[in-house]
Amino acid sequence: MTFLQTPFKLGSLDLPSNIFCAPLAGCSDLPFRRMTSAYKPGLVYCEMVKMDALIRNDPHTFKILDYETSMHPIGAQLCGSKLDLAGPCAKILEDLGFDVIDLNCGCPVDKVTKDGSGSGLLKTPEKIGEIIANIKAAVKIPVTVKIRAGWDSLSIFAPQITKIAEKAGASAICIHGRTRVQGYRGPANWDYIRDCKKEAKEIKIIANGDVFDPISAKKIFEVTGCDAILVARGTMGQPWVIEDIATFLQTGILTKRTSLDYKKAFLEHISHVLSYQNDRRALLDVRRIGSWYLKLGRGTKYLRESVNRSSSIEEALSHIHNFAWEEVEFRPLTGIEEEGCDSCTD
Ligand SMILES: Cc1cc2nc3c(=O)[nH]c(=O)nc-3n(C[C@H](O)[C@H](O)[C@H](O)COP(=O)(O)O)c2cc1C
Repeated sequence: MTFLQTPFKLGSLDLPSNIFCAPLAGCSDLPFRRMTSAYKPGLVYCEMVKMDALIRNDPHTFKILDYETSMHPIGAQLCGSKLDLAGPCAKILEDLGFDVIDLNCGCPVDKVTKDGSGSGLLKTPEKIGEIIANIKAAVKIPVTVKIRAGWDSLSIFAPQITKIAEKAGASAICIHGRTRVQGYRGPANWDYIRDCKKEAKEIKIIANGDVFDPISAKKIFEVTGCDAILVARGTMGQPWVIEDIATFLQTGILTKRTSLDYKKAFLEHISHVLSYQNDRRALLDVRRIGSWYLKLGRGTKYLRESVNRSSSIEEALSHIHNFAWEEVEFRPLTGIEEEGCDSCTD
């Protein structure tokens, strides 16, 4: 059985494939997306933006939405729960040239959920439908919605929300198989996603949660019967994971990435950061992305600490260049060590 679809139909769009890159607040910025887009994802999402900030023309919010032509097809994600803002915000995003608009119903942070936004919306499934309908009415591009399975294990509303989202006109619904209360503890429960697939008629089901490599990608297709998958933490420090998954689904071949591939990608990512951020911010970003690229290497602890302690980009680069990359081995990401991220917003 072949799970890879090339192209993949999403509403009016023909996407290159059904393997997507997730929104990652504080991570999937323009330099990050330059890295992942090079490996031909079916769709790449920007970090979420708040409706209130977008409507008041907040410059930082518009910076989050920076993208380049080579990143198409690209989706923007709205976070908010105000019915009257949803349509106008969606129109702003469509006018910026985005191909898809997603509604965030998964962000767990208290300051977002307290006004009923993000995963707060999981408590009011009907409202999700109303927001989607307002977005749909304002734009021509496909609308998607991204949810967690429910607020807690006693309120798994994902199947019900799937039906509501379909009725409201969403082209796809992405389900992260964990609850809001669960955070990142324990494995994602893919059975919840399978239950959503059973409810779906036309709406496409995008499965999400704990896909870190080609093997887990194939497995989530098998278990859930989903139409597409969305990879999140698995793209951090292994920008090629989407390509590796596609290759595996097509040929059964597992691509081996060497320590020199990691070195090259890390340096390339740094050069994108340097061309995009000011020096102070660039140094912080280099330390952060260093932890992603180096976490899977046996024997990279010292380099990771050195990069993290560097007081300038030059110093960080000299540590990277002087490191004996050929002597370390990189193992695949399994996700077991991933308890979410400090900067995690979902
Ligand atoms: C650092 C970080 C930032 C995230 N930011 C967003 C976001 O902006 N919007 C969103 O819908 N989900 C966000 N998520 C959730 C992911 O998109 C994804 O649903 C979750 O990590 C589960 O997938 P995974 O197991 O493949 O990582 C974020 C997750 C992390 C770890």
